[in-house]
Amino acid sequence: MAEKQDVVIIGAGAAGMMCAIEAGKRGRRVVVLDHAKAPGEKIRISGGGRCNFTNVHAGPKNFLSDNPHFCKSALARYRPQDFVALVERHGIAWHEKTLGQLFCDHSAKDIIRMLVAEMEEAGAELRLETVISGVERTASGFRVATSAGTIDAASLVVASGGKSIPKMGATGLAYRIAEEVGLPVVETRPALVPLTLDQAQLAKLAVLAGVAADAEVRFGKAAFREAVLITHRGLSGPAILQISSYWREGAEILLRLMPDIDIAALLKGMRRTNGRQAVQTALADILPRRLAHFFVEEAKLTGRMLADLSDKVIDTLSSSIQAWTLKPAGSEGYRTAEVTLGGVDTCAIDSRTMRARNIPGLYFIGECLDVTGWLGGYNFQWAWASGFAAGQDV
Ligand code: FDA
Repeated sequence: MAEKQDVVIIGAGAAGMMCAIEAGKRGRRVVVLDHAKAPGEKIRISGGGRCNFTNVHAGPKNFLSDNPHFCKSALARYRPQDFVALVERHGIAWHEKTLGQLFCDHSAKDIIRMLVAEMEEAGAELRLETVISGVERTASGFRVATSAGTIDAASLVVASGGKSIPKMGATGLAYRIAEEVGLPVVETRPALVPLTLDQAQLAKLAVLAGVAADAEVRFGKAAFREAVLITHRGLSGPAILQISSYWREGAEILLRLMPDIDIAALLKGMRRTNGRQAVQTALADILPRRLAHFFVEEAKLTGRMLADLSDKVIDTLSSSIQAWTLKPAGSEGYRTAEVTLGGVDTCAIDSRTMRARNIPGLYFIGECLDVTGWLGGYNFQWAWASGFAAGQDV
């Protein structure tokens, strides 16, 4: 005999726990299943252990999706301030870092403890280390076969996340379930991920490994202004992670280092006041020293004095720094990607409730949907908002 519940949620991550809390508050009998040993493992490691749990500026413009309108309804009904109010009710201290990003003062574990306490209070049951062996439709809903028995429920919520960081239990189960019931899935790819360079570029940039600089990074119409970090494998840092969600194989990205500074004008000014200064010394006043030496060497100007340089040479040097094109070879992939781009196609999902349009009782929430946020707390805001929306309907 199968056990009977109102709602089965697969995945005790950010979205699944939020949905369980809301559904439990409505008096639904809810069970949350997860194969992991602990709930919210990605919350635990997020934001360098402090969880960037939302972004005060979160809005539809901060999300990538084949249907950019899809996220509007859920984001409007559960806002960053709603999550902040919850955090404050639990006495969790937080602070704003930069660009509207809110972090815990102490530990991401505070957020997990809060969600687990809220689930308990709402009467939602959490079952860990439970392997899902099959999902099938029944006359009255869904039957979920697990390593601990079979559960029948009117509503099934798939909150099993994306494919990123398989070592932490990501499985892509949501896409399999969607495909099994005939729902379309937008092609998935790693996003918010460091980009790699080919051997030739790596050899050239080896002297820069570990250097970070303020930059605007562009790909097509997308542009992000944050730090860029050059690594032994390629490019990282927040601006690169952001652009990785837009970049496509074979294309170049454009880096504008020190975007607030008119490097050409500065060098020309220095040429007037101190023409005998070596160009690499002058540039090292503007850029991190290793970068300055790199660009001067690339331009074959090492050892030359500023007074020797024509306007044209200074302009060319400056645009090699402020219109630096690089062609990534690839990305580090799901191994290090913070999120998965693409996912269950939102054209098949009702944007108010997260319910599959043609399959009564089936819901998809969180990262498994084709809604991907920028870096900076947006992905958790989507998890809370989509979990909240489904929690009102299951
Ligand atoms: P999530 O992945 O959180 O949860 C899915 C759950 O389903 C997991 O508990 C998993 O074990 C379970 N599961 C998967 N397959 C299963 C199966 N077959 N059977 C049973 N259970 C299964 N975002 C942000 O806004 N701010 C931040 O600071 C960060 N930082 C960050 C750091 C790192 C290193 C990563 C990898 C990611 C982030 N993110 C982030 C992104 C954020 O973690 C992510 O968008 C959300 O966790 C997505 O929430 P979900 O609930 O959709 O999936």
